Amino acid sequence: MAELKVLFATSEVVPLIKTGGLADVSGALPAALRAIGVDVRVLIPGYLQVMAKLGEFNVVATFNNLPGFPSARILSGKMANDLPLLVVDCPNLYQREGGPYQNEQGQDWPDNALRFGLLSKIGAVLGSDESPLDWHPDLVHCNDWQTGLTPAYLKFATGAVPSIMTVHNLAFQGIFPAKTVADLHLPASCFDIGGAEFYGSLSFLKAGLFYTNHITTVSPTYAKEIQQEELGFGMQGLLTTRSDDLTGILNGIDTDEWNPSTDKLLGKTYHIRDMSGKVANKALLQYRMRLKVDPAVPLLGVISRFTHQKGLDLLLEIAPQLAALPVQLAMLGSGDVALQQSAADLSHKYPNQIAAHIGYSEPLSHLIEAGADMFVMPSRFEPCGLNQMYSQRYGTPPIVHATGGLADSVVNYTNATLKARMASGFSFSGMTAQNLFDTIQRAVSLYHDKPKWQALCKNCMAKDFSWSTSAEAYREVYLKVLEQPKPVIPV
Ligand code: ADP
Ligand code: GLC
Repeated sequence: MAELKVLFATSEVVPLIKTGGLADVSGALPAALRAIGVDVRVLIPGYLQVMAKLGEFNVVATFNNLPGFPSARILSGKMANDLPLLVVDCPNLYQREGGPYQNEQGQDWPDNALRFGLLSKIGAVLGSDESPLDWHPDLVHCNDWQTGLTPAYLKFATGAVPSIMTVHNLAFQGIFPAKTVADLHLPASCFDIGGAEFYGSLSFLKAGLFYTNHITTVSPTYAKEIQQEELGFGMQGLLTTRSDDLTGILNGIDTDEWNPSTDKLLGKTYHIRDMSGKVANKALLQYRMRLKVDPAVPLLGVISRFTHQKGLDLLLEIAPQLAALPVQLAMLGSGDVALQQSAADLSHKYPNQIAAHIGYSEPLSHLIEAGADMFVMPSRFEPCGLNQMYSQRYGTPPIVHATGGLADSVVNYTNATLKARMASGFSFSGMTAQNLFDTIQRAVSLYHDKPKWQALCKNCMAKDFSWSTSAEAYREVYLKVLEQPKPVIPV
């Protein structure tokens, strides 16, 4: 077979624009696919931040007559790592101060339906006979609700290639008023329970899940969880019906960017055979976060969006007991104002032991992974999660709620799993503050047993979280979809 060509449509990609793990995946997975011979090009909106970093580009298409949308161009460029980019240039929709989905006050952009409708529409145009480009993909790989309408538009286009839809987080669904169907020139027949309709509104995500040829999600456990009511966010019925077309593939990580033996953002690099540099990073982290510099006290790290999903409310609830253990807590993140306030209050109450950096910091995130003794991630649900993999690579055992990708990437410590050289952290079932506290206590007692702790850290560092296995799994899904270009729904 000739080289497989894939259009990878996404709303964020590192290092151009990032709000979360989707950006990490959109940067690393296409690169890993290219390394195994798949010709992947990334389609992304031309936000201000993207245009500022784009460098050289060519205008390869102009669209003046896409029904319902303003004029737009496609710019072809490359990322620093040579990954080819197709940028949707529509200044009125994308070039503004603020984030990709929200303004600087944290409110959703009022024209998000149009903004991501255009991204979806162009993804479909490039995968159909209408495409003005010389490069024609064999398949469009869509990611999350922002590209959810691509499979719907493809369904009604001529010469359309198949698509796959990856769910990175089912909690975000892109729900808009019913009239959006007409505004975005989707056929009225889409607005049906067997289509893109969701409780009387248009759901971009449901459109994607319904019309795509194959659904993937970012861990095998999450693939099962989203078929049940608790974590199905109303989509469990559709996902159960489509369970034969649903595959869970664990994300990988960018092992060049997250490499403790070369990381320039650390105070001192280290590797599995000589972890002494970790001690220096711990001292630096304590100093930077104004904690008491003390090599003996266990230091727990957190890097997270402060949201209900991530379960930080439980961690903050037990913070006083943690301070009494004693341990130190170094937190980085932002989001929910009440959680930010409670983290800040705790840091004032326990200045030697609890520190919170409210905001976003790439350098600090690397230092936390390296300098902390343990990493805490008590997510209520976690489609995959990347930080627990980064932390293992940095020899920092994670403490996690056994859900989604956390269950798939952390092996709970027991005497038996340590003996088998499998143990790589601590996990608990039952999302309660008490269970979290007990698990942290379990980790802290092992921390004081140095030979066992060292063995645990080395197990973590020896694990392979590179993208190569997962990239192969995606290629298999692509090939399977291309072998069976069956219509998804009878019309
Ligand atoms: P999610 O995408 O649900 O937020 P992930 O674990 O998949 O969770 O990915 C989060 C990504 O964002 C990681 O790369 C993490 O290091 C990064 N991150 C989150 N918050 C911050 C922050 N405040 N500063 C720096 N990086 C952050
Ligand atoms: C989402 C999920 C996270 C996952 C990431 C990348 O943001 O919340 O668990 O790791 O997407 O797939």
